[in-house]
Amino acid sequence: MGSNRGQLFSESLMEQIKDRFHYVDRDVDGRTRLFFDNAGGSFRLKSSLEAFARIDALPDCPERIHERAIFLQDIQTRGEEDIRRILNARDGSVYLTLTASAAMFEMVRAVMEHIPGTNAVTTILEHPSSFDAMKLYCERTGKALRVAPSNAETGGVDVDAIVSLIDDDTALLSVMYASNISGAKLDIAAIVERARAKKPDLFIIVDAVQHAPHAVIDLQKTPVDGINFAPYKFFGCRGAGVAWLSERLAELPHHRLDAKEKGVWELGSPASAQFAVVTAIVDYAAWIGAQFSDSEDRRELFVQGMQRIEAHERALLSLLLDGVEGQRGLRTIDGVRVFWDHDDLTRRDLIAGIGFDDLDPTEAVRAYEQRGVIVYERIATSLYSGRMLKSFSLEGAVRISPLHCHGPDDVLRFLAVTEEIVVASRVAR
Ligand SMILES: Cc1ncc(COP(=O)(O)O)c(C=O)c1O
Repeated sequence: MGSNRGQLFSESLMEQIKDRFHYVDRDVDGRTRLFFDNAGGSFRLKSSLEAFARIDALPDCPERIHERAIFLQDIQTRGEEDIRRILNARDGSVYLTLTASAAMFEMVRAVMEHIPGTNAVTTILEHPSSFDAMKLYCERTGKALRVAPSNAETGGVDVDAIVSLIDDDTALLSVMYASNISGAKLDIAAIVERARAKKPDLFIIVDAVQHAPHAVIDLQKTPVDGINFAPYKFFGCRGAGVAWLSERLAELPHHRLDAKEKGVWELGSPASAQFAVVTAIVDYAAWIGAQFSDSEDRRELFVQGMQRIEAHERALLSLLLDGVEGQRGLRTIDGVRVFWDHDDLTRRDLIAGIGFDDLDPTEAVRAYEQRGVIVYERIATSLYSGRMLKSFSLEGAVRISPLHCHGPDDVLRFLAVTEEIVVASRVAR
């Protein structure tokens, strides 16, 4: 299962998994569609939407003494426990807000405004939600922003490149778990260990939005101060961002109603329904886990489920790169270049970046759509991806991001369409 080439789900499990998501094989209008843009939008579990609708339909205010209000409080408590299960987080605070970006800006602000230091460290690959927060609060608090460069071979950032920027005067390290552009995982365990060897009380905040839906996160092994994820990219619904904060980060001054406890970050009344969505996500991963384990521990089942998801996605990545059932893979399709093609698939989430010899990325995205395939172009002029692509000296790339609810047949179809696009682009030139 942990092998470099992963392991596919059985056909019968694959069928059950597909059935649990909306619109995997067909779009809402019934037309056949391959949605390979799950690093952008993402498939929703039917159970997440059902949970949201069931709970959000209730008129009750959770902050009451009635039976139904207490039921809503229980939903929130259960959701909070499930957020801790996802991250293996103890103590500290759970913070559910409107978006992952909003949570990131608030966490960065609290550290930057209250922790002494003359510099802060981040990486060139960060999403604007953390990069721009770091930039803004460096400017506001007079700190130097130190930015670790990317590694064009791996698509990631080397541990040394980050650690070498940290010193006694570093107030905060903000680093992502995996790149939403290249799919490369950063070695967070090594980064945390080596960064804290340089500055033992260093504050560290991690953006796990890309990585959380693809593998296990364990804060007991990688103790950081803040971490966020987005339920809508994690089989759930739009409308919420989730963060966990260590006790020392949670207690730093932040926007808070005066009468609430010091570690509370939620402002106003969060949607109970969003907590129910998180519980539906954990139920689902634990259901996959239960196909492989007799454990009765919900975290263990969740971990088992996420490990199986990771193994299946690695197997899909391997097929995408090297081909399936006689169909050539991206690495050998003439006219296609694969970027950041790191050989060790255990270091990559299920994302591939490619370029066409005879098409620019935007033309390629349109050509895919005409053939019922949704992928996305990341281009150097984009507000969301320009900085990262320039760091790799690339003008653009087509990003391919399937999800574990896809099977080998879907990869086969995608590869056949890719070859068709290459042929069509040659005829057109
Ligand atoms: C790596 C990463 N971080 C943060 C975000 C921000 O998420 P949101 O727009 O939901 O706040 C995204 C969204 O694409 C992302 O990919």
